[in-house]
Amino acid sequence: MKKLLTVIALFTALITLGAAGTSNAANYWDKWPAGKAKGPMPECGVNVLPLGGDDILQATVDTYCKLKPGAYESYINPAVKKDYDKRAKKYADGKGGVLVFKAIGAVFTTDFAGGKIVYDVLAIKDEKSIASKDKGHPLNPETCATCHAGFNGACQGGFCGNRH
Ligand code: HEC
Repeated sequence: MKKLLTVIALFTALITLGAAGTSNAANYWDKWPAGKAKGPMPECGVNVLPLGGDDILQATVDTYCKLKPGAYESYINPAVKKDYDKRAKKYADGKGGVLVFKAIGAVFTTDFAGGKIVYDVLAIKDEKSIASKDKGHPLNPETCATCHAGFNGACQGGFCGNRH
């Protein structure tokens, strides 16, 4: 019996090792609940309004289509998920949410520090910032802020995906 247990334990360890070897490195948002923002990023020139999109989604497509970022999905820090669900105007300091673009290995992040909203762009592989410092660049955190600041009430407290 003892021998059998040892064999089972060994087997389990091997399976765990195998799984870790084939999957990608863990990211801090891996176990977070999904947010509402999710979808394909259409090609440049596509009008998303007849497809059920709204003005802010059209502006987002027009800004990011050139990067060919592929489909995106979002994850929200469980610590702020309740506030996200009720579209709070203000969030506690800490991590907020992420918008993951797997095809280009990039993730947009919205966090809170010192009562302010902080935007960044990270490489998925090492979570290092790849944000741009060029004025008006789509990956410059200032560009994120101009849209996320409100957009006629579509965004609230820094989040836009929870608008409907
Ligand atoms: C032109 C407007 C616009 C710009 C610019 C923009 N976003 Fe967004 N962002 C959106 C919209 C709209 C959504 C929700 C998409 C949906 O509903 O499918 C969103 C979703 C997100 C989310 C998921 C959480 C949420 O708010 O629902 C994060 C994180 C995010 N954006 C960060 C960024 C960062 C970082 C930048 C800059 C690099 C940026 N965004 C630039 C409009 C924009």
